[in-house]
Amino acid sequence: MANTIGILTGGGDCPGLNAVIRAVVRESDAAGWDCVGILEGWRGLVEGLFRDLPLRDVSGILPRGGTILGTSRTNPYKLDGGVDKVLASIRDRGFDAIVAIGGEDTLGVATRLHAEHDVPVVGVPKTIDNDLSGTDYTFGFDTAVSIATEAIDRLHTTAESHNRVMVVEVMGRHAGWIAVMSGIAGGADAIVIPEQPLDYEQVAEALRKRHARGKNFSIIVASEGTELPGLADDGEVDQFGHVTLSKRGVGEALAQEIESRTGFETRVTVLGHVQRGGSPTARDRVLATRFGLKAAELALSGQFGLMAALQGDDIVAVSLEEATAELKTVPPEWYAVAQAFFG
Ligand code: F6P
Repeated sequence: MANTIGILTGGGDCPGLNAVIRAVVRESDAAGWDCVGILEGWRGLVEGLFRDLPLRDVSGILPRGGTILGTSRTNPYKLDGGVDKVLASIRDRGFDAIVAIGGEDTLGVATRLHAEHDVPVVGVPKTIDNDLSGTDYTFGFDTAVSIATEAIDRLHTTAESHNRVMVVEVMGRHAGWIAVMSGIAGGADAIVIPEQPLDYEQVAEALRKRHARGKNFSIIVASEGTELPGLADDGEVDQFGHVTLSKRGVGEALAQEIESRTGFETRVTVLGHVQRGGSPTARDRVLATRFGLKAAELALSGQFGLMAALQGDDIVAVSLEEATAELKTVPPEWYAVAQAFFG
């Protein structure tokens, strides 16, 4: 029987997941290994949900968004006997390696399974949030930034025609990367992110100054993860302890405060899952493909507990433990680039 690699995609879906799956299957097949899809992230190993992944099943999936394997936010460490079920599934299916494609949560589970149970796992960094350490970029981020930038461009025309302030709420659970990059690319007049203390009066003053010099409209990009005074969560959390940030209403709260301080008519657009949908950009397809080939190379050569990563122009392997130890947030120098254009 041929050696087998199990592939799973966990956490929020993200453009480029299918490109990684395709690359892992192609590289493994060339080495005479089989691939099996583990369905719906870690749930697939807890509940024994699998599908074969022959070459023909990955043909044509490169440009497709989402994941042909399905995904979930299942955390085996939070389920009764979850980890034992995962270990039994790996044994029963005869997996020689697991390629886990995910963000901080999915790869956090991979890190623990490797450290505590010697599970033969290799990670691939996925998230539109771009907040994983050890890699310069995650795939999916470029697509999300492109979508957010296009939205900002479109909102400019309405803002200008109606003399309005437009608040654009973008994703980013702990880090404001999408807000900063799309804000720079889209020419935002203010950007609020979790990493920077929010001063309402400073934002209001920047807009007043802008309007005073004849610009009767403004665009504010707000990261959904920003803490605003008085905003409460509904208390519901997923298996990784996360609240649904889009329900928190950062954009709406910010808009109300800005309108009441400046008197400028202010509207909100919440981009939400549009940022994660559809086809990956060429850059994300290439990055995801390179990550997939690297992950397969590591799996085929028995190098586990590692994650494929981008450093400069090179694809390298970094330790999963390092990559998941702390999040990569937006440093002040990146925010300063955006700030140079506020007001
Ligand atoms: O982590 C990726 C992400 O898209 C975050 O930016 C966002 O807060 C979260 O997932 C949304 O998750 P869900 O799709 O489960 O609402």
